[in-house]
Amino acid sequence: MKLTKTIFSLLILLCCLLSNTFAQEILVNVHGRKTQSLNGKWDAIIDQYDQGRKNKIYLNKKPVGKTDFYEYSFDAGLKLNVPSDWNSQLPELKYYEGTVWYAKHFDVPKDHIGRLFIYFAAVSYRCKVYLNGKEIAEHEGGFTPFQVEVTDLVKKTDNFLVLEVNNTRTTDAIPAKSFDWWNYGGITRDVMLVSTPKVYIHDYFIQLDKHRNNQINAVVKIAGSQVNVAVTVELPELKIKQKLVTDQRGIARASISNVKQLQRWSPESPKLYNVRISTAEDMINEMIGFRNLAVKGTGIYLNDKPVFLKSISFHEEIPQRKGRAFSEADAVMLLSEAKALGCNMIRLAHYPQNEYTVRAAEKMGFLLWEETPIWQGIDFENQETRKKAGTMIKEMVMRDKNRCALSFWGMANETQPSKARNEFLKYLIKCTKEIDSTRLITAAFDLVKFDRNRQCFVMDDPFIKELDVVAINKYMGWYHPWPVTPDKAIWDVARNQPLIISEFGAEALYGKTGDADTASSWSEDYQAQLYKDNLEMFKHIPNLRGISPWVLFDFRSPFRFHPTYQDGWNRKGLVSDQGFRKKAWYIIADYYKNIN
Ligand code: GCU
Repeated sequence: MKLTKTIFSLLILLCCLLSNTFAQEILVNVHGRKTQSLNGKWDAIIDQYDQGRKNKIYLNKKPVGKTDFYEYSFDAGLKLNVPSDWNSQLPELKYYEGTVWYAKHFDVPKDHIGRLFIYFAAVSYRCKVYLNGKEIAEHEGGFTPFQVEVTDLVKKTDNFLVLEVNNTRTTDAIPAKSFDWWNYGGITRDVMLVSTPKVYIHDYFIQLDKHRNNQINAVVKIAGSQVNVAVTVELPELKIKQKLVTDQRGIARASISNVKQLQRWSPESPKLYNVRISTAEDMINEMIGFRNLAVKGTGIYLNDKPVFLKSISFHEEIPQRKGRAFSEADAVMLLSEAKALGCNMIRLAHYPQNEYTVRAAEKMGFLLWEETPIWQGIDFENQETRKKAGTMIKEMVMRDKNRCALSFWGMANETQPSKARNEFLKYLIKCTKEIDSTRLITAAFDLVKFDRNRQCFVMDDPFIKELDVVAINKYMGWYHPWPVTPDKAIWDVARNQPLIISEFGAEALYGKTGDADTASSWSEDYQAQLYKDNLEMFKHIPNLRGISPWVLFDFRSPFRFHPTYQDGWNRKGLVSDQGFRKKAWYIIADYYKNIN
């Protein structure tokens, strides 16, 4: 009996230790907590042949005797900006795929008491985290946050934090081996120390009830599953002060009904309320909006009124800087161009974008579609890949579930029908709904074909019945010549569901004029005419509830070889890589201005 107990205790200890080397469930709303930024210039070592880990360079050893020496040093070497991709920081790193080591010394904040975490808003694509010479975490996925508790691992001063970052593409990754955007690598988003009390507010989900316009549902989770903790949820502007108590799992729930004078969030009136969640030891504030979103028949309803989605897509990239977007200023630049275009929605392609963009979009009045990079060829047969995809989508939903602007969770982009794909995507829907069952589930397909017998566009993929909204990418006039004139282009696709055109468009080199009927002119005139033709076709899609032209800005892609017209850029932007609006921009601006 004694032996069994010992083994059991050792197993528990092992699980606790192991759990520390893997990133923990993320802290919600770090921006509302006590933080200290670790952004800035970090020391870096380019490790092209992956020698660093076996040489344990994260120990940062210094020669002491007459005979020892080390063939590395983090001091006085390369320095890289954090946050930022590495590709845009050095010409030699433009195409680099491999490992880069980052290192940073830091002191624990002087007034720190309680628990301490290091929070990474994103590291692309995979990384291991070492602190004071020990591996403490690892993470895979270039677009979602993770953190690791370091309360018992830090010294008061001169802690040595090292990240081993790798962006090599692999067939079991998400995205997989090839994708139509730049493979930026690096610590691409903020890094910060987060201080919390010993018993802290770990997570909360506060939103308007899916089916009622005057009931706010609140769920608050206290770290360490602390039982009987008194929690208060306040919305001062609505004179709400709700008392809750945590249950056996450390979770407190409340449905606050008959809320008076609630102004529901909408793109036209993006009202946010200050929400304060507090316990005896902790308090956190967040601006949260409240809205109702539903599908009824083929309609999409926002706050009980039918809505037409005037969307646009953009990648997380500042073209003028040839680098990943990562700051609030970057977010405002991208979103301001979408606002000028007259959009009420953004499809954040093709991966969870940084939190500044999501929060700024909500403040500026954009509905949002977010997705993980389940883009075309994913290894749907691979159980490990499926597990990774589940973790990734949960990290995305956990981070943004309190953003009322978030309306669509995208499950995939242009995947091909198969049993394995269907099972994989159903698993992702399950993972999503475990956290949030209130938003609309969608996915983008490129499976619409022209049926010559019926003389109409059709699609055959039974998987669409798993979705609330069906999204179609269709490049009529670009990848597909017109089989009929646009005014005769009738659609019979997903007829009983709302349908969004989630991508359409064509490439044009800004300033290139040419024949409006010749694709290989790569001209703005051809792109503009194609937009006019597609808008004509859209009139003949009876269940069309929104469009999202591909794409707001020209963006970088290794897919795009043409030396004159592309030169490593996908030129489908309505705005050039230098920030100039093409003729097609004005066609969409006019369409959005005049559509109801
Ligand atoms: C696809 C894909 C995009 C890509 C676009 C294109 O539809 O979803 O990521 O950039 O086509 O070919 O430009």
